Amino acid sequence: MSWDLLLTDCRAATMAEGYGAVEDAAVAIEGDRIAWIGNRGDLPQQSAKETVSLGGRWITPGLIDCHTHLVFGGERAGEFEQRLKGATYEEIAKAGGGIVSTVRATRAASEAELLASAKQRLATLMAEGLTTIEIKSGYGLDVPNERKTLRVARALGREGGVTVKTTCLAAHALPPEFAGKADDYIDLVCNEILPAVAADNLADAVDAFSERIAFTADQTARVFDKAKSLGLPVKLHADQLSDMGGAALAARYNALSADHIEFSAEAGIAAMGKAGTVAVLLPGAFFFLREKQLPPMEPLRRHNVRIAISTDCNPGSSPALSLLLMMNMGCTLFRMTPEETLAGVTKHAAAALGMGDTHGQLRAGYAADLAIWDIDRPAELSYWLGGNPSAGVVQAGRWRSRTF
Ligand code: NIG
Ligand code: FE
Repeated sequence: MSWDLLLTDCRAATMAEGYGAVEDAAVAIEGDRIAWIGNRGDLPQQSAKETVSLGGRWITPGLIDCHTHLVFGGERAGEFEQRLKGATYEEIAKAGGGIVSTVRATRAASEAELLASAKQRLATLMAEGLTTIEIKSGYGLDVPNERKTLRVARALGREGGVTVKTTCLAAHALPPEFAGKADDYIDLVCNEILPAVAADNLADAVDAFSERIAFTADQTARVFDKAKSLGLPVKLHADQLSDMGGAALAARYNALSADHIEFSAEAGIAAMGKAGTVAVLLPGAFFFLREKQLPPMEPLRRHNVRIAISTDCNPGSSPALSLLLMMNMGCTLFRMTPEETLAGVTKHAAAALGMGDTHGQLRAGYAADLAIWDIDRPAELSYWLGGNPSAGVVQAGRWRSRTF
């Protein structure tokens, strides 16, 4: 028997424990899985169909962006200008702009148009070693348009050379036709939208936005109950602009993740630690909305909550197209270490998507999703502001790109 691909002469951040660094590593790949990884000196005697020297380059698990709203119509640069003149994100939302303006543009766009614009953004993210991305709906807000968005996300997974996990975020905002009738809209979400997307296997998880400008904790709980009854795991946009008890609610439902969580109280963080709910921090949104309230870093660490980092790529609060830049912001804005941010876009991002047993580490049996970098040490991935040290990507055991 021979391996399909053998990579030698590399330094590996396996992310097994901390960086899990192996200074002189080899990685053997069989099909779409890692068959062996370790010190080159310990490599078992076995032939390989293709052997490639990486010339001392670093290799990490392929990066995972675990929270994006990648599929949407239009853009909101005009709102950015309004905010720079003093309007707040919440004021714009209350005046009929914000998420709802992207809902109008997304409903008006054809499936082909949505696919084309999302593909461009995806290509930019993928150029930085991305091998898995989560994509949420949430700008359709009715049965046909939520389905349309999720079909586009699934199509990106089929053609894009990247693994796509989809999340139904129908409870993102109140659509204009339900103004003043939030409970009725939640009825639609529970009785029609979620069953429709589940029937077509369009969603791998269900998310909601629990906030003053979105849905209450009770409404969110109704959505979560329905998701559970359909066998779908849940996630939550929690405590981004105010403390809504979102972290605790997410933990109560054993959510895969609670995201944003700047305003979460310590009890909620403790509950997340007990439930194993991952904290997904979104420094792009914090930066772009010029927020002041930092996430509760110290309680997160004390309660052993796993921390992921993501772009939150969306047209309103985080038009971010670089996961590496988010790693830098995780360090500079949130005082994370480069080791934490790398775990945040690999191992812990995988856990936030329920893929922690198969993705996010360089480990025998795990997916052969690898990113190869022109760097001298892993901290460089969090260090440069711009630029792209990606030297190659192996996706599911096959070369997706290679510059050397
Ligand atoms: O994750 N918080 C709610 N949803 C997005 C913002 C979406 C938008 O403004 O279009 C977020 O920040
Ligand atoms: Fe988001």
